[in-house]
Amino acid sequence: MLTHSDNTVWFDGYITRSEREISRGHAGCAIWITGLSAAGKSTIAKSLEKILHDNKCMTYVLDGDNVRRGLCGDLGFSRQDRSENIRRIGETAKLFVDAGIIVIAAFISPYRKDREKIRDSIGKEDFIEVFADCPVEVCRERDPKNIYKKAENGAIKNLTGVNARYEKPEDPEIYLETHKLSISESVMEITHYLSMKEYTENLR
Ligand code: ADX
Repeated sequence: MLTHSDNTVWFDGYITRSEREISRGHAGCAIWITGLSAAGKSTIAKSLEKILHDNKCMTYVLDGDNVRRGLCGDLGFSRQDRSENIRRIGETAKLFVDAGIIVIAAFISPYRKDREKIRDSIGKEDFIEVFADCPVEVCRERDPKNIYKKAENGAIKNLTGVNARYEKPEDPEIYLETHKLSISESVMEITHYLSMKEYTENLR
């Protein structure tokens, strides 16, 4: 697939990433939230964005269900399609980071190798992996989209954590036990990390 790019050259504009970051007042970075369906990824992403936005940060949320309606609407849930889904989103997130934006990506992203490829592509200093860890039993109980029920009666195949693999991050930058923490506690862990590592000023 990437062979089509053999005869292309990266084009630099007149404005550099660091100039964009200076005018925004914070660094661009990708906050990549991975975990099972119903682990709390999207809710954490939305609440985190709200706090960052209220603190005048430029943000954007990329979310599994939304992206699969457009950019990745042609993809299903096979191993190969999920890798392609994550590759496209990773490339999209990379553009946001170059734009000096804090992009928050909330995807199951079940395969370690796919997540590591994004870390390498975006650059490890700009990639913050957040593991939303929640036992599948709790996710099954929450089941806001009835997806676990559908898997039980056979209407959905390859549901991650039920009959498809989830490979836990080995060394995530942020580890959240989302069945023990409230949404605001989870969000605070992330904002604390962003301030501590100087991506942002201290957030209120
Ligand atoms: S990923 O595995 O490719 O990273 P992604 O985060 O984009 O998944 O999409 C997950 C969402 O798709 C779920 O929240 C759920 O609403 C829906 N979905 C539909 N079928 C499946 C399935 N077999 N496994 C997981 N999610 C599914």
